[in-house]
Amino acid sequence: MPPATAPATAPAPAPWPVAVIGSGNIGTDLMIKLLRGSGALTMGAMVGIDPASDGLARAGRLGIATTADGVDGLLALPEFADIRLVFDATSATAHRTNWARLEPTGVRVLDLTPAAVGPYCVPVVNLDAHLDAPNLNMVTCGGQATVPIAAAVAQVAPVAYAEIVSSIAARSAGPGTRANIDEFTETTSRALREVAGARRSKAVIVLNPAEPPLLMRNTVYCLVEGDCDHTAIENSILETADRVRSYVPGYRLKQRVQFDTYGPDNPLYIPQTGGFTGTKVTVMLEVTGAADYLPAYAGNLDIMTSAAVAAAERIAQHAQHAQQAQHGQQAEHAQPAEYGEHAEHAGTAAGALR
Ligand SMILES: NC(=O)c1ccc[n+]([C@@H]2O[C@H](COP(=O)([O-])OP(=O)(O)OC[C@H]3O[C@@H](n4cnc5c(N)ncnc54)[C@H](O)[C@@H]3O)[C@@H](O)[C@H]2O)c1
Repeated sequence: MPPATAPATAPAPAPWPVAVIGSGNIGTDLMIKLLRGSGALTMGAMVGIDPASDGLARAGRLGIATTADGVDGLLALPEFADIRLVFDATSATAHRTNWARLEPTGVRVLDLTPAAVGPYCVPVVNLDAHLDAPNLNMVTCGGQATVPIAAAVAQVAPVAYAEIVSSIAARSAGPGTRANIDEFTETTSRALREVAGARRSKAVIVLNPAEPPLLMRNTVYCLVEGDCDHTAIENSILETADRVRSYVPGYRLKQRVQFDTYGPDNPLYIPQTGGFTGTKVTVMLEVTGAADYLPAYAGNLDIMTSAAVAAAERIAQHAQHAQQAQHGQQAEHAQPAEYGEHAEHAGTAAGALR
């Protein structure tokens, strides 16, 4: 029998209303991306604690429900009843408090701070593993830029050590980011191990005060012990960069992947480890922002907010397909087989990230 098609009366998935907590750099850029997005998510509320913040003012002008009373203000808004997912773009400390208030409501939460309450999510690497997580952590801007590259190397050869350096324009780092430098280094470093698969790791962030501001830059070093296939590693990196670019168009390699080999005669000295022999893979990345909120130098906003939107759209799609599948199973009891087959197809077709 040919595969069944959707019944003509199958309703289109309803958009998911979402809320953003944190009306600073990240939260405002995210709001603009949601408003310009595919329509799968709709902006239901903007939440802050600073009534004078630019993000709250913009949201108010756009007719979006706002509150300057933080998470409690959000819970008190009539619009909260429809909210399916909350993005938190405040700070790691504030996120822990917000999560304590949101968890009992059952609303889904995507955490854009480095609080790391929930599992780490780097969409091109592991999103499908966590589609049902109540709280999903988006790591850091540096993590979203570099973990995919370390994972691409680790797909080809075991990575003994990964080190990354992210450099962002000081102007793009709000007080929330500045309060979270330690969390940035710890969370990014852990994600290099837990998501990318490196055995050891280190992360460094530089807030560059240069004027005019510089584009976000990231350098990824991966040490691979012994012999490895350079062409396979380069291809894996290029393919992964293409996939990141599907949701962050300004993401690109600044130059070709570099390979340095170290043999017994010229080992690479690494503090606390000693002499390393094998291959050092170096990848230099640049992220140009879409200038949705801050100018194009702030690719660090885009790499985080675009990853969060891509993840949230995928989570909504997954939940809607699961719901359709459930309806299909119910209908299967009363209907011939076709509708059940369609529902199963809908549930599994939700595999590929846009
Ligand atoms: N700026 C970046 O490049 C970047 C990239 C990725 C992730 N992050 C993370 O995103 C978070 C925000 O960074 P930012 O640069 O946008 O900082 P920011 O200071 O510009 O924005 C934080 C906003 O949250 C608000 N806020 C603070 N506590 C709150 C609470 N309890 N309830 C509601 N609102 C509250 C603040 O008033 C402010 O408007 C940080 O955790 C940072 O580590 C930043």
